[in-house]
Amino acid sequence: MSSLLYHVQRPTMIKSIGKPIDAAPKVAIDKNITPYMLNGWNIPAEDDFLNSRKHVLFNNDLNIALAAPKKSLRSYFYKNADADEMIFVHKGNGVLRSFLGQLPFSYGDYLVIPRGMIYQIDFETEDNRLFIVESFSPILTPKRYRNEFGQLLEHSPFCERDMRRPQNLETHDETGDFVIKIRKENMIHELVYASHPFDVIGWDGYNYPYAFSIHNFEPITGRVHQPPPVHQTFEAHNFVVCSFCPRLYDYHPKSIPSPYNHSNIDSDEVLYYVDGDFMSRNHVDKGYISLHPGGIPHGPHPGAYERSIGQKETGELAVMVDTFKPLKLTQTAVDLSDETYKISWL
Ligand SMILES: [Fe+2]
Repeated sequence: MSSLLYHVQRPTMIKSIGKPIDAAPKVAIDKNITPYMLNGWNIPAEDDFLNSRKHVLFNNDLNIALAAPKKSLRSYFYKNADADEMIFVHKGNGVLRSFLGQLPFSYGDYLVIPRGMIYQIDFETEDNRLFIVESFSPILTPKRYRNEFGQLLEHSPFCERDMRRPQNLETHDETGDFVIKIRKENMIHELVYASHPFDVIGWDGYNYPYAFSIHNFEPITGRVHQPPPVHQTFEAHNFVVCSFCPRLYDYHPKSIPSPYNHSNIDSDEVLYYVDGDFMSRNHVDKGYISLHPGGIPHGPHPGAYERSIGQKETGELAVMVDTFKPLKLTQTAVDLSDETYKISWL
């Protein structure tokens, strides 16, 4: 996908390039087989949008981060040249401002920002919570939900109308000193440009940031247990993103709503808990992240099967990231983790 942008000034006028800062996630635990539960709500809030980003899990395909930024990003511009970004808004309202226009957002929005987009972000208050995936390959809607022309098919759990595009193009015909922080090869480079990065007077094409609300995902349900791919929302190289939304449970008269134990030989499974009651897990709250590594089975906690019998529906809201290659943990993840989780099925 591509877009054509019509700038007022040449977008090539570099004035200076600063010394880069290393922003690569650092390995604390490699070659992991331990199940983890992280209390993601405990990450510190920070003023700066980029500094607030705390990487917890990563591999060669993606970085997963949590962030609680307090201030709007206005003092510099940001561009991720490495990765498409998926920013899930768990808490906060505001506007993502890019050189292609403005994207208002609120609780439950996935903001998908293709690599190379120059953006800033405004928050209405200081109380913001973001779950972020930085993907080193394009983040796309599942291919099986699209026809050969790219149109979403009728059985897709969302449609084109659910995708919100940038509006209110900002065109600043200004020259001076404009800092763009550019993430490339996990380094943050600081480039000073002579023209305002938001100087586009018009554009067309299919490459642009967009928003999709998890509340618009229409769950696919059945008489018997539906496998996780029915929750799939996005795909990229070597991982998928799924949305677990309020829905009816399996309605076969003998069904047991709680999922069965399963062994993800082909993926590590990351679940970010957003809202509602998480039936299959004990002691889980908003902002928690579970990691169930491939190679060993996992399933509901003791008592969860029994609790689920007779229940008709769930109000749970969660975002799942299944990675086809194993994930590594950072020290931040280790610091947030619950030591007893691995033995919590006894
Ligand atoms: Fe699972």
